[in-house]
Amino acid sequence: MTKKLEKPLARQRALVTGGSSGIGAAIAKALAAAGAKVLVNYAGGKDRAEAVVAEIADDDGEAMAVRADISDEQQVRSMFETMLAAWDGIDILVNNSGLQRDAALVDMTVDDWDTVMGVNLRGQFLCTREAAREFLRQGINPKVSSAAGKILCISSVHDVIPWAGHVNYAASKGGVSLFMKSAAQELAPSRIRVNAISPGAIRTPINREVWEDPAGEADLLTLIPYGRIGEPSDIGKAAVWLASDQSDYVTGATLYVDGGMTLYPEFADNG
Ligand code: BGC
Repeated sequence: MTKKLEKPLARQRALVTGGSSGIGAAIAKALAAAGAKVLVNYAGGKDRAEAVVAEIADDDGEAMAVRADISDEQQVRSMFETMLAAWDGIDILVNNSGLQRDAALVDMTVDDWDTVMGVNLRGQFLCTREAAREFLRQGINPKVSSAAGKILCISSVHDVIPWAGHVNYAASKGGVSLFMKSAAQELAPSRIRVNAISPGAIRTPINREVWEDPAGEADLLTLIPYGRIGEPSDIGKAAVWLASDQSDYVTGATLYVDGGMTLYPEFADNG
């Protein structure tokens, strides 16, 4: 009799910030399909979060939706308390929540700046700190994973590609890049892995205005050598790999999942 292959994230517990829509929802579903229990965090849109939880349950997975504004220290703490009370620990954190408040630099308000930094950067710090504290307390359980914990920071191609009209967003993602690497360096001796996924143009609500308009979509495609806009599931698959022991020797890395957007496509027939 052949032994049934265990799912790569069996017995693991994951928290996905901003798991109610777009890339976060796809990551939550992919981790659940790979065997993890998933806390689907949301800031607004309870119905959408509950729909993701229901979809996971329909697929024989386990999930729960928890509301928290991840830029708020107390709310992050109580979200982690809820998770630990329910599932007695955490194995995977996905820092996914992110937003854009676009404006020309000269018109950008302090609120535009602070809102983006608050969610995209401070939120990743607050959640990473709570998760790392818990990973250190738990230590390694070799029956679950070779690592004491895994953290995925969802960044963007705009952690290396400057983006006029979006200085707050690009600065936050540039910040995520060195936040991730510094945390990876600090936590590696404790066998906590920290990596980033930098998506390119993925079909989600954040850029709906661009891909819904045929001219906008055509323009966008000139920046993508692979010739298609990414789907949220493209990021979900990468997240499963980076959260699993298949990538056990990978830490401090950024995986660009972007159809070649970071390959300077405008140089293909120029320069
Ligand atoms: C942004 C999208 C944009 C993509 C490529 C992402 O980080 O959120 O709005 O389409 O980068 O520029």
